[in-house]
Amino acid sequence: MFEGVFSGGVVKKALDREVVRIVVHDLRNFTTDKHRQVDDRPFGGLEGMVLKPEPVFRAVEAVRQDGGSKVYLLSPQGRTLDAGLARELAAEQQVVLICGRYEGVDERVAEHLADGEISIGDYVLSGGELAAAVVVDAVARFVPGVVGNEGSVRNDSFSGGILDYPQYTRPREFRGLKVPAVLFSGDHKKIERWRRKKALEKTARRRPDLVGADTLSPEDRDLLEEIPNERNNE
Ligand code: ADE
Repeated sequence: MFEGVFSGGVVKKALDREVVRIVVHDLRNFTTDKHRQVDDRPFGGLEGMVLKPEPVFRAVEAVRQDGGSKVYLLSPQGRTLDAGLARELAAEQQVVLICGRYEGVDERVAEHLADGEISIGDYVLSGGELAAAVVVDAVARFVPGVVGNEGSVRNDSFSGGILDYPQYTRPREFRGLKVPAVLFSGDHKKIERWRRKKALEKTARRRPDLVGADTLSPEDRDLLEEIPNERNNE
């Protein structure tokens, strides 16, 4: 499940530049029984299978480095991943991500092994692998030296606390749809202001929760004032 994701994009860049190392472990290698069984029936219930604690504890204890290591279980019950959390993880020496499978993971993993749980959104995936891949991709962007132009991480949606400004490329006109003229003005100050205004406008419309009093500068506030009050149109 990880091969495709890690062989392209920002993660591949991080691996090629050797600023990130990723090791995928198979929990079955940390079992001790003949059948290499990683799951078992739940106590108190009939349906489904639950990931056993032993292989998970053994795996984490085998791979975690002394000192700088953080252990997270991927689960819909966790803290929702956002740019802030991705940035935090990027600063860690080692992050161990535990992927749950089947119907659940023995609660002792979350309670006594993991430092926390991470969710990638309010929906249930069939396993933690896709969620872990999302975490790895989001975190890799914040590892210094991965995204060549550090400015482009800073300007990304969310990194600055708000959504991205609109981008255009050639042609200047496509099926009658024109690129905003300000972008050809050559006036960088004007372009910068326009971009900030567009980003604020989009954020205020789509994600009003992100334009709280504490996130905006006085200049941002002035720009927002200029935007006509036509919320809820998108
Ligand atoms: N495992 C199953 N669903 C998940 C989710 N939404 N986030 C993280 N891990 C998960």
